[in-house]
Amino acid sequence: MPKTTISVIKADVGSFPGHSRTHPKLLEKAAKMLKDEEGKLLTDSVVTHCGDDLELIMTHTLGVDNENIHKLAWDVFMECTKIAKSLKLYGAGQDMLATAFSGNVKGMGPGVAEMEFEERASDPVLVFMADKTEPGAWNFFLYKIFADPFNTAGLVIDPSMHKGFIFEVHDLFEKRKIRFTCPEESYNLLAYIGAPSRYVIKYVYRRDGEVAASTSTQRLGLLAGRYVGKDDPVMIVRSQSGLPAVGEILDPFCIPVLVAGWMRGSHHGPLMPVGLCDANCTRFDGPPRVLCFGFQICNGKLIGPVDMFDDPAFDRVRNRCSELADMIRAQGPFEPHRLSLEEMEYTTLPSVEKELAARWEPLPPQFRPFFRDVDHTQRTLMQSSCVPCSCISKNADGVSWKRPFIGLRSDDPQQTKRISFRSRYIHLFRVMRGRRPG
Ligand code: F6R
Ligand code: MG
Ligand code: MG
Repeated sequence: MPKTTISVIKADVGSFPGHSRTHPKLLEKAAKMLKDEEGKLLTDSVVTHCGDDLELIMTHTLGVDNENIHKLAWDVFMECTKIAKSLKLYGAGQDMLATAFSGNVKGMGPGVAEMEFEERASDPVLVFMADKTEPGAWNFFLYKIFADPFNTAGLVIDPSMHKGFIFEVHDLFEKRKIRFTCPEESYNLLAYIGAPSRYVIKYVYRRDGEVAASTSTQRLGLLAGRYVGKDDPVMIVRSQSGLPAVGEILDPFCIPVLVAGWMRGSHHGPLMPVGLCDANCTRFDGPPRVLCFGFQICNGKLIGPVDMFDDPAFDRVRNRCSELADMIRAQGPFEPHRLSLEEMEYTTLPSVEKELAARWEPLPPQFRPFFRDVDHTQRTLMQSSCVPCSCISKNADGVSWKRPFIGLRSDDPQQTKRISFRSRYIHLFRVMRGRRPG
């Protein structure tokens, strides 16, 4: 039996009204194009949407990163773009950053999560799809699912999971990757994945190498160098028999986690788990949503889907998300509702700043710069030992009193700290006595 590959490829190629949902005509076209390939390129397929993102869930035997599968997804998005344009849908073709396909949709706009595995006797798989958020949004949930024994009972009581899992983390800025083995390295893992705008969990593996989860990691802003909508990631998670149970995978979504990507990709908001009928972003173009389709995989066939969050057990988190949305919305354009300045670099804010740049005037100089480098003599004196105050106040050799001492450095960080502290004290003392330093 050949291995089964699941490819989930998505793109926002136009929606209505504004960025709220995908038009049924796009869904029909995509479903038909994939159906036509069943028995040829594909074994099975399901087409759906989460908000304004068109989601292609495909199974086949061609492995990950297969050119023909990626080309098929590309063609579907291009055909759907044509329909979106003919209906003047909003943002028609917005995620298609390239004009022609060249081997792999990665880096060309669409988001991709794929995994290849040998089917077990029974293989439950969950496909998660999010709108109005970024790929790092999965970090929190993947940690809870595969590394937190307070979430996943199997980590404690199932001998086949007891050894833990391996997390592959990608640095989206430096384009590098690293693997952490948990539970031993869970603090190291958290040190990175707690910054989800940069560090993103790409894969989770069981210790024996069996793939357990795969996510999409593309960030459109980083690819295009400008704001072109949010990335709205997808994720595939395998379940049961030595992997977390379906319920252990779903339970972390009962926590209303604040994620980045709401309104103009520029705001934090709670990630709300919803069933398909509620996977439409309206309030302030959101709040961010997550949809989950469950399947049994049977010789490559997708037995399902089951709409996993269509369950009153998730009503409470949905209400809590709405409460959180009220609270954070009240902050309007203030951080932390609005993203930090660093993250706003990839939004439309820099264009506003550019227009205002010429109007900024420098403040009149009052003091010399607070921190300054020192000449060799001073540095030598300061490095020689912990310089006592009296030595300085006695106008020690080589120390120029005409300049403030602020920020003298030593090779010894401890000493530097002490010197800086004392220097600042002298500086303040001089200011208090009405003497301008320097
Ligand atoms: C898009 C999104 C929306 C838009 C917003 C403004 O994924 O999240 O919040 O950013 O509707 O859209 P424009 O600038 O296209 O009018
Ligand atoms: Mg859109
Ligand atoms: Mg979207």
